[in-house]
Amino acid sequence: MKTVLITGCSSGFGLEIARYFLDREWRVIATMRTPREDVLPRSDRLSILALDVRDPQSIRKAIDAAGPIDVLVNNAGIGFLNALEGTPMDTVRDIFETNTLGTIAMTQAVLPQFRERRAGVIINVTSTVTCRPLHLLSVYTASKSAVNAFSESLALELEQFNVRVRVVLPGRAPSTRFGENARARMTDGFAEPYGAIVQQILENWQKDTTVTHASDVAEGVWLAATDASSPFMIPAGEDAIEWYNTRTR
Ligand SMILES: NC(=O)c1ccc[n+]([C@@H]2O[C@H](COP(=O)([O-])OP(=O)(O)OC[C@H]3O[C@@H](n4cnc5c(N)ncnc54)[C@H](OP(=O)(O)O)[C@@H]3O)[C@@H](O)[C@H]2O)c1
Repeated sequence: MKTVLITGCSSGFGLEIARYFLDREWRVIATMRTPREDVLPRSDRLSILALDVRDPQSIRKAIDAAGPIDVLVNNAGIGFLNALEGTPMDTVRDIFETNTLGTIAMTQAVLPQFRERRAGVIINVTSTVTCRPLHLLSVYTASKSAVNAFSESLALELEQFNVRVRVVLPGRAPSTRFGENARARMTDGFAEPYGAIVQQILENWQKDTTVTHASDVAEGVWLAATDASSPFMIPAGEDAIEWYNTRTR
């Protein structure tokens, strides 16, 4: 039986990815900052572990408790929307600490066992915002683009050990807690001189009905985990595929 460890399973994509793999007879290690037993169906193939990807001790404890794993899904992430002038440096650091450094630290923690076994898959969830520039998302996009670039180099370096690296790029998914979680971080409001752009962007999003569903992301992660011939980058969601096919980077 194969084992997947997923970060950020308390809601959204992480929770759906955990359900998807459980339904397909995998052993699932669903990790959460604050473990909750009631969000996933009970199963003897499910372990729920505490894990904060920003905390080295928490990473070490979770990896030790997890035992051998076959697939790591770096899904935990935080969002933020504002012009750079309205983004405090502490917020910039927070975003990189979770989205970029958290992914790198988790990857480092599983690599010894993957390399020794000459098997394993690392799946990094980034975003289709990395495919084209967008207003108000400079820092978030930079944090996810860094993961794309990191993954590309890492894939080359790990090929010799038969360890695969894949990137799954979701589009916009208003059904997860991502927007709500991001808004909680945006306490100072939008930078005033950028008001017109903010209004335009928010209006455009409301008109846009093509979105990504959590199930699209779970399917993308499943493909990355189970199909060695899957592409390195996997857009997940109807809007994501459209964006990916018209990418400028
Ligand atoms: N929704 C979108 O539109 C969208 C689009 C493209 C990409 N993405 C990416 O998809 C991933 C999942 O997002 P989502 O939409 O499912 O949002 P979500 O519902 O907010 O889920 C994010 C998860 O990450 C966890 N998390 C945050 N900081 C963490 C940390 N330091 N350590 C461990 N876990 C942490 C959250 O846990 P807590 O409950 O403890 O906060 C939560 O479980 C993120 O990487 C996000 O950047 C989202």
